[in-house]
Amino acid sequence: KNIVILISGSGSNMAAIVRAAEQERWADRLQARVAAVISNKADAQGLAFAQEHGIATAVLDHKAFASREDFDAALMARIDAFSPSLVVLAGFMRILTPGFVAHYAGRLLNIHPSLLPAFPGLNTHQRAIDAGCKFAGATVHQVTADLDHGPILDQAVVPVMADDTPEQLAARVLTQEHLIYPRAVAQFLA
Ligand code: GRF
Repeated sequence: KNIVILISGSGSNMAAIVRAAEQERWADRLQARVAAVISNKADAQGLAFAQEHGIATAVLDHKAFASREDFDAALMARIDAFSPSLVVLAGFMRILTPGFVAHYAGRLLNIHPSLLPAFPGLNTHQRAIDAGCKFAGATVHQVTADLDHGPILDQAVVPVMADDTPEQLAARVLTQEHLIYPRAVAQFLA
């Protein structure tokens, strides 16, 4: 089974999934591998990690396309070249068209840095702090046409400290993302 991971930036969640998939136990149990990492940004730091781990990479710059539909069509063609059983969004900062989401229905996952359904969208950590939340976290969910909604597969909770900056909270949440995303991907494939 092939997994294709989409990134836009540092790709630390992608790296966590790649490391998990490199374990012998994972390969034996799930018969799955990360076949490709695709970025919409040429300077995404995660691309180097993927290459070092022998994974095919591709860059598809959304700015080179006239419309979101055109970009998504090209992206689908790139992804489908790997016949994926699962497409994983890992810090992929593009909103996907309904056509894209429908094409991968039932095999498209995302991680969002909040305890959904609270705080969909951007700036989740600042918003959680501003709201006075005592806990924050991350959510792995299936992607549906509705942004940052869709069936929840797993969540992790972290405390919000009294003097947290958004950066401090983001870092605390991110360490948990690295635990739950590989686990959710494995459970989903199993
Ligand atoms: C993560 O916090 C993810 O939940 C959010 O963007 C961040 C991506 O980090 N959507 P990385 O690229 O996986 O390091």
